Amino acid sequence: MPIDTSTSFETTPAAELAERYGAAGPVAVPYDADLAPGVPLPVAAEALLREYDAKGEAGEIVEVPAPLGDGVARILLYGVGDAGPRALRKAAAALARRAKGRDELTIALPEAEPAAWAALAEGALLAAYAFRMLGSTGGTTPGVGEGRSKPVGRVRFAGPDAAREPVRRGEVTARAVALNRDLANTPSSIKSPAWLAGRAAEIAGEAGLGVEVWDAERLAADGFGGILAVGRGSANPPRLIKLEYRPADPADDRHVVLVGKGITFDSGGLSLKPNDNMKFQKTDMAGGGAVIAVMSALAALGCRTRVTGLVASAENMPSGSAQRPSDVITHFGGRTVEVLNTDAEGRLVLADALAYADARLDPDVIVDVATLTGAIGIALGREYGAVFASSDEVADDLLRAGEASGDRLWRMPLVEDYRPALDSAVADLANIDAGGEFGAGSITAALFLREFAGERPWAHLDIAAVGRTTSDEGINSKGATGYGVRLLLAYLAGA
Ligand code: BES
Ligand code: MN
Ligand code: ZN
Repeated sequence: MPIDTSTSFETTPAAELAERYGAAGPVAVPYDADLAPGVPLPVAAEALLREYDAKGEAGEIVEVPAPLGDGVARILLYGVGDAGPRALRKAAAALARRAKGRDELTIALPEAEPAAWAALAEGALLAAYAFRMLGSTGGTTPGVGEGRSKPVGRVRFAGPDAAREPVRRGEVTARAVALNRDLANTPSSIKSPAWLAGRAAEIAGEAGLGVEVWDAERLAADGFGGILAVGRGSANPPRLIKLEYRPADPADDRHVVLVGKGITFDSGGLSLKPNDNMKFQKTDMAGGGAVIAVMSALAALGCRTRVTGLVASAENMPSGSAQRPSDVITHFGGRTVEVLNTDAEGRLVLADALAYADARLDPDVIVDVATLTGAIGIALGREYGAVFASSDEVADDLLRAGEASGDRLWRMPLVEDYRPALDSAVADLANIDAGGEFGAGSITAALFLREFAGERPWAHLDIAAVGRTTSDEGINSKGATGYGVRLLLAYLAGA
């Protein structure tokens, strides 16, 4: 149960909410710079907003006590900015954070487009996310976790009937994002590739997806040399996971394949990472988690495109059986790669899955999503994911989905002049720019992947810097962000 908060929807007018529900928790009512809310307040709303210097920005909250029988109702006047999706997502996240520890939060919806109502629901629920280990006491053991206040128990949305369905979609999306956060936040002592495959199969069962899992033996029989090479050093053998969604009522015969990096822990392998870089690497399957989470929500969102998800999962560990820098491996389809750095492992597992998708699944579009390079954080920081694409159309569709969903993207170039960086004297390709003369580590990684996508329209999302956050803020809480789920769901809704 990633988001413990439950929800309900009703059409009760804003003016009646405080009286009905004010005893159970705060009642949030929207305002903009001119609009006074229609709720009974002890002081005129205009005077209140002037006194508190409220400008109507998203995230702004003016709390006002209002009489309620013998007690007090807390009215939260909340700013809505331009009332677009971005603003309402932020406004609702602030409200949910304010209502922490309370039984209920009632939110009167502002006038807005349906997509903005959906974003508001997403924001309220995502801000209420908290990672809890299965079997954890949740802080009831004396001295353990005390003081960590609980998320709000329930959010009641009140608005026009037209908002009911958008709010439901927002909730489905938020719960899918939370699923990815849970997968990524799970410690790697639990989260082996087999565990991830087991979770994927359970989720597939619940969501009505087809599922197929390759264990190490079958990976060997079918020639998945990249996934096997990365997994060789670990006591927890690798898996390839395939999830299939076939819409009941397809819009056309298009087929989209999503490919996720599913490294359940990245120590670097024999090219070992220093501890400071290693301790966050339990989230190195966040791309694969995004693929699983997206697949889980397609039926509930009524997606009309056929989608197949592939998650290439391995644990990258050093040991006597680990692959060595200078080894040559053979990928699915026969291409050979000289492994010059075992820490550039994501591209090795992805190469197999991309080659498989190209050779066997006949996709119209392939999109891979991966925590691939530390370098992308240097280029774009923590607010923008990177998209590399062989097709302008796919890139544009993804950029648009990024803006609409709030998982923002920036397009990066596939610079042909850097392609010689990957030439090898002993194999078809090297897995890194060994000479280091080209720089641009994120671009050379993308160029490597491109080699395996064939002639298919293909895009690569590098989410290494946006997959995780260090602070509780807005819709995010410390740890995995679930980045990519909202983006890809928005992309597939428009695809
Ligand atoms: N999983 C890492 C990338 C990463 C770094 C994700 C930081 C999240 C936070 C990836 O497998 C990796 O190790 N990349 C190397 C590539 C290098 C060896 C060419 C990197 O970025 O240093
Ligand atoms: Mn690595
Ligand atoms: Zn990695």
